[in-house]
Amino acid sequence: MALALPKKVTIIEVGPRDGLQNEKSFVPTAVKKEFIFKLKEAGLTEMELTSYVSPKWVPQMKDAGEIAAACIHSSTRDIILAPNQKGIDKVYETDCKAVAVFVGVSDTFNLKNINKTTAESLAGLRPAIRDLKKRGFFVRACISTAFYCPYEGKIQEEDTLSLCREFVRMGVDELSVADTIGMAVPSEAFSLFQKLQEAFNDTLIAAHFHDTRKLAAANVFAALQAGITRFDTSAGGLGGCPFAPGAAGNAATEDIVYMFERMGIKTGIDLAILLEAIEIVAPHITKNIDSSYYKLSHQI
Ligand code: HMG
Ligand code: MG
Repeated sequence: MALALPKKVTIIEVGPRDGLQNEKSFVPTAVKKEFIFKLKEAGLTEMELTSYVSPKWVPQMKDAGEIAAACIHSSTRDIILAPNQKGIDKVYETDCKAVAVFVGVSDTFNLKNINKTTAESLAGLRPAIRDLKKRGFFVRACISTAFYCPYEGKIQEEDTLSLCREFVRMGVDELSVADTIGMAVPSEAFSLFQKLQEAFNDTLIAAHFHDTRKLAAANVFAALQAGITRFDTSAGGLGGCPFAPGAAGNAATEDIVYMFERMGIKTGIDLAILLEAIEIVAPHITKNIDSSYYKLSHQI
C-alpha cells in the first residue's frame, strides 16, 4: 500500500514572531528586518512578522510598528498577531492585510497569556473579526493549548473542536491549531486534525507544532496523513510562548522543508537561502540552534 502524499504543501513561517518572542535579549530591529527579507527571498510567502501586544508583557515585540512599516509587501501574506481591539487598531494604521488573533482552549492558559478567560476573549474578538472581514482582511485564528495545557493538562478534542467552531462561525479564513507545549504524539495529531478537516472543510487549517519532545516532525507527518497541507514552522526551530512554561521551539522550517522535499512534496523554499536567513539571526539568539539540518550543514 502506497503512502497518500500531496504534491505540494504550504509553510507558514512563524520565526520572526513565535521564534523571537521568547528570546530574552532584544534582537535589534535591523536584524529582524534583514531576517524577514531573507526568509522572503528563500520563498516563504506567508509569514507571521510580529505582534501588537503589550511591550510590558512581551518586550521583544516592542518594535512591531517598525517591522510592519518596513516589511509588509502586497506580494506576500504578511501576518501580524493582535490579541485585542487595541492591537487590531494599530494594524489598521499599517499596510497589513492579514491578522492573526490568538485564544487558548484552556481558561487558565488564556488568563496567563492575555489576562482574559476564553469566553471573555471570544466576546471581544467577535465584533473585531466582523470588522476585519468587512475591511477585506485575511483572518487567522491561532488556537493554543489544542492538545495539552501547561496548567490544566490534557484538553478534550471536543473542547478544541468547539472553540474552532466558534471562530468558523465568525468567518475566519484559517484555523492554526497549536500544540503549544509540544506534548502531542502522532496518534493524537492524526485524530484531532482528521476531525478538524471533516468538520471545517471550507476553512484553511494549519498545524502548529512545538518540538519539546522531538516529535514535531512526526506530528507534522501525522497531520499530513489526516489531509493537512499547511504547516506553521520557525526558521532555526526557534520559539515558544513566554506564558506556556515548558514550551520548546517550533518545528524547524529547514527540517520540515527537507523532509517534504525528500518525499517529493514541493514547498517552494530554497534551503540554502533559508540557512542564510538563520545565520543572520543566530548571533543574536542566546540558545543554540538545534535543528538537524542546520547542525549538519555546519559539520560539512
Ligand atoms: P492587560 O494588562 O490585561 O491589558 O494585558 P490592559 O488593557 O489593562 O492594558 C495594559 C497595557 O497594555 C496598557 O498600557 C495598554 O495600553 C497596553 P499602559 O497604559 O500600561 O502603558 N496594551 C497594548 N499595547 C500594545 N498592543 C496591544 C495592547 N493592548 C493593551 N494590543 C494584553 C492584556 C492582551 C495586552 C497582554 O496580556 C498581552 O500583551 N499579552 C500578549 C501575550 C503574548 O503575546 N503571548 C504570545 C503570543 S501567543 C502564542 O505564542 C501562541 C501561538 O504561537 C500558538 C501556540 O503555540 O499555542 C500563537
Ligand atoms: Mg506557538
